[in-house]
Amino acid sequence: MNKRSVTTIIAFGTLMVGLVMFITYEMYQSNSNSEPEVDYVIGVSQPNLQEPWQILMNEELREEASKHPNLRVIYTDAAQSTQQQIDDINTLKGYDIDLLIVSVEDSIEMTPVISNVYNEIPVIVLGRGVEGYNYTLYIGTDHYLIGEMAAEATKKLLGDQGGKVVEVQGLTSAVQAEERSRGFREKINQTKNIKIVNTVVANWQRDKAEDKLKALLKNSHEKPDLIYAHNDAMALGVYRALQSLDFGQIKIIGSDGVDKPNGGLQLVKQKKIDTTFITPTGGKQAIQYAIRILAEDTEIPKKIILRNHEVSSQNVDDFYLKKNVLNNHSKNDEKVTLGFAQVGSESAWRTANTDSIIKAAERENVNLLIKNANNNQAKQIEIIRGFIQQGVDVIGFSPMVEHGWEEVLQEAKDAGIPVILSDREIKVKDDSLWTSFIGSDFVEEGRRAAQWVVDQMKSSKDSVNIIELEGTKNSAPATDRKQGFKEVLKNHHNLQIIDSLSGDFTLGKGKEMMEKALQQFGNDIDIVYAHNDDMAIGAIEAIENYGLRPGSDIKIISIDATNKAFKALSTGKLNFTVECNPLLGPQIMQAAKELKKGKEIPMKIITSEETFTQEEAKKEMKKRNY
Ligand code: AHR
Repeated sequence: MNKRSVTTIIAFGTLMVGLVMFITYEMYQSNSNSEPEVDYVIGVSQPNLQEPWQILMNEELREEASKHPNLRVIYTDAAQSTQQQIDDINTLKGYDIDLLIVSVEDSIEMTPVISNVYNEIPVIVLGRGVEGYNYTLYIGTDHYLIGEMAAEATKKLLGDQGGKVVEVQGLTSAVQAEERSRGFREKINQTKNIKIVNTVVANWQRDKAEDKLKALLKNSHEKPDLIYAHNDAMALGVYRALQSLDFGQIKIIGSDGVDKPNGGLQLVKQKKIDTTFITPTGGKQAIQYAIRILAEDTEIPKKIILRNHEVSSQNVDDFYLKKNVLNNHSKNDEKVTLGFAQVGSESAWRTANTDSIIKAAERENVNLLIKNANNNQAKQIEIIRGFIQQGVDVIGFSPMVEHGWEEVLQEAKDAGIPVILSDREIKVKDDSLWTSFIGSDFVEEGRRAAQWVVDQMKSSKDSVNIIELEGTKNSAPATDRKQGFKEVLKNHHNLQIIDSLSGDFTLGKGKEMMEKALQQFGNDIDIVYAHNDDMAIGAIEAIENYGLRPGSDIKIISIDATNKAFKALSTGKLNFTVECNPLLGPQIMQAAKELKKGKEIPMKIITSEETFTQEEAKKEMKKRNY
């Protein structure tokens, strides 16, 4: 090989090596520069980005979204205009978003808009609710409860001598303003020495509250003792009005508790207002659930209600301390021990519920101690006491009835053991005795059952006689299902409940009570409304024995939607069933694990539920395995 050829080979080799290096570098560059692949586009429609609370919500959404490179989020700000918010949503739809997160300005006007979007894509309603249930998920707080808490704070601040109160309301067409006002007024009206002497509407805005308050107080002879504003922005407006008028000594309550300049927490700390209620925005949870919804997770609840915390000058410093502790929750993954006091084994629903809890505990590696109270409250209390003595990490129970839990729950609280209410709520004065409720909206189930009756009977002018088979006396499902049913029926005077009998949620008792009703009313019965499937099945047996045809001579509606009901629907003996989801195990385990880590969990997780006609049941029957 001559010298020239060697030089050529070396030059060629060098060129090739250079080329390979260049291509590799380019590939590396294009990989490292390339945008991550976008799997989902989410649209966020904000009503305004002026209020500190709404700004905080947006920051939380952004922070959580930034953890997911496969998400693209488009944000809009309606600047307090409902028409602008409607336009924003149309623009977002034009971008082909996969899911909409919306916090509304005006609940009434936005309800049909959201309903239309929900027909096409999933919608998360955040912080500020709409009417009805036409959305995928609502995340927010209980605004009626905030109103009640404000009334309690008013009583504390005014003491025995009471006084005069002015209420500064948010937008009147917003569900949350209406609920806060109702909760506040209903509690205040029960007191003798506190009077609401004036109401001002300031649309959530600081400046409007300031101007309106100045105008009111200048012309009024009655100096109020306390002013309750539906949010902190307006509470600050109230403070400024009082300062400029040189009115001292008037207490101010706000709501939101944002820890930012001009946010409620800092206003309390600076003693500009007396009390606020920390109202979580749910921004973080909205993104987390959006991802689960888009990934077609089937266990998405209908409502997540976040807990409020009262902060006043008494506890503001403690609150900052506690906040730090909560933010530094333990990272250890120690196995959690959950003591679960099941109410009984009265129904097919309950069997499915117990099964779901046991299976989820195995799957989630939770040490589950489960005991059955056989539908006896004293026994259930004894079981809970046993768990407290054993020192379990978390207690769960499905309360047999609504009342009578204060003492034992106080013992759990004193022992530092958080309590999860499973499927049934309770009525206690102090809501801090329990941490979280996971279950259904029983009132809504009752409404849905009644709506079916109304729709079926709309052409009938004759009176329609209904027998109600109630669940366990004083239990939440019996009380609430009755309430929801009556609420819808009250505008239809020909639909009458001629008797309500307690069948205790069991097939045997349901049958016995139906026999009794048939003896008394015989052929005059048109409809049976059973609070659960088991009692409906019992009623079917009684009706057949009586010689009538269930499903045609007497129509029957029930609640639960278990396999038993689906079979009865498919043979035409049952007419309609409203779903009540018993598969609560996975959510209970997740809550128990988070509590063990010291995390704050939602106050209520309300499951998503459907209704089934005879035709729908035939299609769905195979999928229902309980
Ligand atoms: O608490 C839920 C109710 O309890 C179910 O609807 C009923 O079947 C039951 O046993």
